[in-house]
Amino acid sequence: MDYINLNKSAWDKRTGIHFVSEMYDVDGFLNGNTSLKEIELSEVGDVSGKTLLHLQCHFGLDTLSWARKGAEVTGVDLSPESIRKANELKERASLEGEFICSDVYGFEKLTTPKYDIVFVSYGALNWLSDLDHWARIVAKSLKVGGHLHLIEFHPAHNLYCGDSYFSHKEPDINEGGAYTENCSGETVKMATWSHPLSEVINALINNGIAIDHLNEFPFTPFNNFENLEEKEKGRFYLQNTKHSIPLIFSIKGTKHFADSST
Ligand SMILES: C[S@@+](CC[C@H](N)C(=O)[O-])C[C@H]1O[C@@H](n2cnc3c(N)ncnc32)[C@H](O)[C@@H]1O
Repeated sequence: MDYINLNKSAWDKRTGIHFVSEMYDVDGFLNGNTSLKEIELSEVGDVSGKTLLHLQCHFGLDTLSWARKGAEVTGVDLSPESIRKANELKERASLEGEFICSDVYGFEKLTTPKYDIVFVSYGALNWLSDLDHWARIVAKSLKVGGHLHLIEFHPAHNLYCGDSYFSHKEPDINEGGAYTENCSGETVKMATWSHPLSEVINALINNGIAIDHLNEFPFTPFNNFENLEEKEKGRFYLQNTKHSIPLIFSIKGTKHFADSST
């Protein structure tokens, strides 16, 4: 089965729904709000004057929020509809940035080590079959001394839901709708891959990215799983569990050496 095309068509369908959802709040963004959350704001820090590559940028809301903070941004996404909407949003917000429609793996041919920051967040890795290949593209994109900031849903949540923690070569094929409050109930097929934390870290180490930190958080900034409660503003925790369960992890990595192939 052609999983890339399956997912491309699913994300094309989701984009229009997400763009007008309360959850993504495009109007708020156009009125000056940022879509960035507390974890990335505190961990990525000052981006002004820096080149920032956002892999799997969806329709560019976070990418353009970084642009508004002064970064020179490039966003990459598989979905032509997401990229079309990202360019529309860029024009409406009068911001600068380049959006490239490409599969992450296809981007390997296009990228060069010109980025100070590679940013990847919330719901990206589960669409990728091969994390070693992903980490190679991150490394190929970073300047020496540049940083990866990955902020992602914690794979321990899979265990809590009864899903697989470890990877399988073949993806899970799920029938799902959009995850925003305005979804119509229409579903589409999508292919996803689970990745344990060790696989993420080893992929980065094996591709020359040194780990500066790994953080885990018992909350998510989105009300995007079942059984969540907003105990503090912008922090949704699982309810009724005896002990806290990690819902988000973040990694900062640095490329210290040039690779001979880059
Ligand atoms: C959950 S969204 C990204 C999360 C982002 N933080 C957001 O919500 O704005 C996942 C994105 O990954 C993209 N995607 C999925 N598979 C991809 C691939 N192989 N290459 C590039 N982009 C991909 C989808 O088109 C979608 O826009």
